[in-house]
Amino acid sequence: MRKHIVAANWKMNKNLVDGLLLAKTVITDLATKPSNATVVIAPPFIHLGALHQLLANSKTVKLAAQNCHQMASGAYTGEVSADMLVSVGVEYVILGHSERREYNKETDALILAKMRQAFAHGLKVIYCCGEPLAVRENQEQEAYVLHQLEESILNLTQEEIANTVIAYEPIWAIGTGLNATPEQAQEMHSFIRQSIKALFGSQVAEDISILYGGSVKPDNARFLFSQPDVDGGLIGGASLVATDFISIAHSF
Ligand code: PGA
Repeated sequence: MRKHIVAANWKMNKNLVDGLLLAKTVITDLATKPSNATVVIAPPFIHLGALHQLLANSKTVKLAAQNCHQMASGAYTGEVSADMLVSVGVEYVILGHSERREYNKETDALILAKMRQAFAHGLKVIYCCGEPLAVRENQEQEAYVLHQLEESILNLTQEEIANTVIAYEPIWAIGTGLNATPEQAQEMHSFIRQSIKALFGSQVAEDISILYGGSVKPDNARFLFSQPDVDGGLIGGASLVATDFISIAHSF
């Protein structure tokens, strides 16, 4: 059976003191009342070591990074390698996020290279895809997302795809307060699962977790997560408020 996953993407928010407080609140709550989902927190790089120590006794919360470099090591000032992430207890890395595609000009080819580096070091990848508003308005979202998949994850090996989680995040819904309806999310998730099935077979397609991201809040999480092909969420804004994130983690 595939995993339910609720992942917090803090993006560039929270200093160390505030971040530790937020994480501590989430961990304490989940320790007393476990979620049915695997809960993942992706803080900024600089907090990973401290959060790892905080999480040492927590079996319920996993650590993720928001990025990694495509090369193993070397003269890349300011960058962080997959090996470094593993050395501070990171299990997942978010790659292909639309903000990195836009602001850091990350291409599908670069994202694939980063994925390969991550897998080579034993990380699991939360791979993000999703269309901008103009594409949705022209009803070309399936072709757009299929192209993203073809250029990246449809090139993975069977072993690599088994360590991949997909996050469908329509760009028009990220941080905007607009969110896809449960039906729109289901339609795209089912399409993505079919595309995985066509290449990797039904077992892989059945096992892969596909998360929805884009303005998931406590009041819409339950409807989104109740769709048959929506296996959880990648949560931005609402993951910065402990009570909101906890409520979302309990929405299965
Ligand atoms: P949001 O962000 O929940 O604030 O829309 C989601 C994301 O970008 O992963």
